[in-house]
Amino acid sequence: MNTEYTGFQHEMEPALRLIAMPSDTNPSGDIFGGWIMSQVDQAGAVVAAQRTQSRIVTVKVTDFIFKEPVYVGDLITCYGKIEKVGNTSITVKVVVVAQRNKYEKDYIKVTEATVVYVAVDEDGKPMQIGK
Ligand SMILES: CC(C)(COP(=O)(O)OP(=O)(O)OC[C@H]1O[C@@H](n2cnc3c(N)ncnc32)[C@H](O)[C@@H]1OP(=O)(O)O)[C@@H](O)C(=O)NCCC(=O)NCCS
Repeated sequence: MNTEYTGFQHEMEPALRLIAMPSDTNPSGDIFGGWIMSQVDQAGAVVAAQRTQSRIVTVKVTDFIFKEPVYVGDLITCYGKIEKVGNTSITVKVVVVAQRNKYEKDYIKVTEATVVYVAVDEDGKPMQIGK
């Protein structure tokens, strides 16, 4: 098992919290990687949209690493941090931690990824992000 992970609390924003449910598993009973990927996209979008104050779309996901499995009943928290703001794009690092026992502070880093969003107007065209 991974060592306890505590480095994120001071530098990253908690964007999403939820419990891994049986409905999120494959037939073997393991949590789908795609379920985690969806949560990462949503968490990054929360952080990005708070900064852009606009509609955004996901343009790129990089460095997606699954470090540890997620189990049914784990309390999942997705932390996000803006890494870069461009003219119309914004890059967010997302770290996902699991608490195997919801009642203890045993955080395990399970996944991390970097997601790039683009601020778009009503027509879906890139628009300048305000300073
Ligand atoms: C995102 C989208 C609006 C960009 O349109 P575009 O015409 O390629 O825009 P541009 O070339 O002007 O690039 C706009 C910004 O996106 C960035 N960008 C475009 N493609 C990129 C890529 N592959 N990786 C990283 N950044 C990228 C550019 O660097 C630019 O950033 P900047 O303004 O901060 O410098 C368009 O590609 C799109 O609508 N994609 C679909 C998005 C979507 O539906 N996502 C959900 C899928 S289910």
